[in-house]
Amino acid sequence: MCGIIGLTGDGGALDAILDGLRRLEYRGYDSAGVALADGGALWRERAAGGSHSVADLAAATAGAPPSRAGIGHTRWATHGSPTVANAHPHLDCSGRIALVHNGIIENHAALAASLAARGHVFTSETDTEVLVHLLEEELAGGAGLGDAMRATLRTVRGAFSVVALAASDPELIVAGRRSVPLLAAFGGGVGFVASDVSALLGRADRYYALEDDQVAEVRPGRLRVTDDEGREVVPTAVTVDPSWDVVAAQKGGFDDFMSKELHEQPRAVADTLLDRRGADGSIVLDELRLSPYDLRGVDKLVLVACGSSFHAGMVAKYAVERWARLPAEVEIASELRYREHVLHERTLVVGVSQSGETLDTLEALREARRAGARTVVVSNVVHSTMAREADGAVYTRAGPEVSVASTKCHLAQIVALQVLALALAQWRGTMGPAAIASVLDEMQRLPGAVADALSRKKEVDEVADALGDARDFFFIGRNLGYPVALEGALKLKEISYLRAEGYPAGELKHGPLALVEPGTVVVAVLDPLRDKMRSNVAEAAARGATVVSVAADGDRNAVGDHVLRVPTVADPVLAPVVEVVPLQLLAYSLARRLGNDVDRPRNLAKTVTVE
Ligand code: AGP
Repeated sequence: MCGIIGLTGDGGALDAILDGLRRLEYRGYDSAGVALADGGALWRERAAGGSHSVADLAAATAGAPPSRAGIGHTRWATHGSPTVANAHPHLDCSGRIALVHNGIIENHAALAASLAARGHVFTSETDTEVLVHLLEEELAGGAGLGDAMRATLRTVRGAFSVVALAASDPELIVAGRRSVPLLAAFGGGVGFVASDVSALLGRADRYYALEDDQVAEVRPGRLRVTDDEGREVVPTAVTVDPSWDVVAAQKGGFDDFMSKELHEQPRAVADTLLDRRGADGSIVLDELRLSPYDLRGVDKLVLVACGSSFHAGMVAKYAVERWARLPAEVEIASELRYREHVLHERTLVVGVSQSGETLDTLEALREARRAGARTVVVSNVVHSTMAREADGAVYTRAGPEVSVASTKCHLAQIVALQVLALALAQWRGTMGPAAIASVLDEMQRLPGAVADALSRKKEVDEVADALGDARDFFFIGRNLGYPVALEGALKLKEISYLRAEGYPAGELKHGPLALVEPGTVVVAVLDPLRDKMRSNVAEAAARGATVVSVAADGDRNAVGDHVLRVPTVADPVLAPVVEVVPLQLLAYSLARRLGNDVDRPRNLAKTVTVE
């Protein structure tokens, strides 16, 4: 997720762009840049300053020429590290077209190869740069910038919003999108485009949402929107809540970041899956930086992580063992460090960390490297310390997560790890191309299934109401349902401060059952061992527990006082991605009923850099 702003017709274009970028920083902040129309040329400046890139950019633009039009970008890196060279805007070979982009271009590698063969010179590692070279070819062929954008977007696959500016027509800003939101707007005679309303509050008073594959041509006071065939269409007007301030707008109409991030989960899963299949159908993990040759002697995989990331690692263990037939262990990072572990050059250690900075996980990875193991990190932050130090990386593409309770990053971690497990299966020859393709096809259905699970919030709210003032919760599951139960318990305790423990369902009778009494709530994840789970549920119900179960739509014999239904997922290894959603919603609902600040729960921090 990146932030985009473009404007035309404002004598103070640079100030307005920098102001917009500051407000968009919550969407990404590892680098930032601006391009301005400068007479018959373009002027560009970029900065890559970690969390203060926009401030650095503002300082670097002190000598900018006066300009009435420009485009700006604040980046959350997905392809290529957060360097100045990778920062947007990107320029074509002539330096006369500038472009900013949010999203992922799936077929960038093939496009880059053919553009390079036609003489284009690339200056970045991004997937974005192909777009500006494609525009360059269209303009060279005589197209205007609007037609050039339409033709370019026809050749690319993926999810994106893009905005371009060309020296040849300096009053014109052209924008297009697919699956990633983008607004056009006006305030007085000034025309704008932006990723979201927060960038434009106080400047614009008329807003229009671009639809998929539409192209907007924005000039001072004028908007022309066309569909993918070039037919002019009536732009979709949007009403902006007059009470919104910048923070409210950043929350996009949700009450808090947690609910916004919950609803961003389908996108986070879809983006994490984009771009993982090569032209021949095989798995491609660009930044893994390890080949089958490097991994040929690996005889064990160890996943290290904390909290929700640990639970994602637990889900992955099943995928690695089932698909790649490789022994897999999951370790709490803070425990691995001080154990007499048996790690060596034949061990692949995978650190799972949303932030990539959690000290326990970082030190566990360092320990593994000292022992000679190869290390890979699954992280949401491309420039994080873990990502820099590890031998390879697989990035989740969830965009910044603001709420302390991890939701969209947790789901993205699970699917990223599952793709890694498929890559290992491919290299080890434990799954053939057809079997891998069939799992990948099933994974493509996950964003829709997650959206479906989210749409059932009302039913979850009703269960939360029915639970009244319950204070004691057990979350139980077996096999792949066990990490889902653990994550449900963690989410609940974290934001509601209610006592919630996760257990393997079979363990209940070995001790914790002594605590079950009328008033205790047992949340049971029924799949994948639903028959076995039925007897564990019966044990709890017999002691007076209120049972809430998570069951697939297709489970006709689901047990429990309340049943939270989820869409059926054909492959049980993938089902946790969907099953965890009602448990996130339940935690959210109960926490809100208690009046808690769900984004900033007491005693906790988003990134834990202490031992
Ligand atoms: C999850 O809701 C938590 N806030 C926490 O458990 C988190 O997952 C853990 O601290 C690990 O963080 P990381 O993924 O950034 O390493």
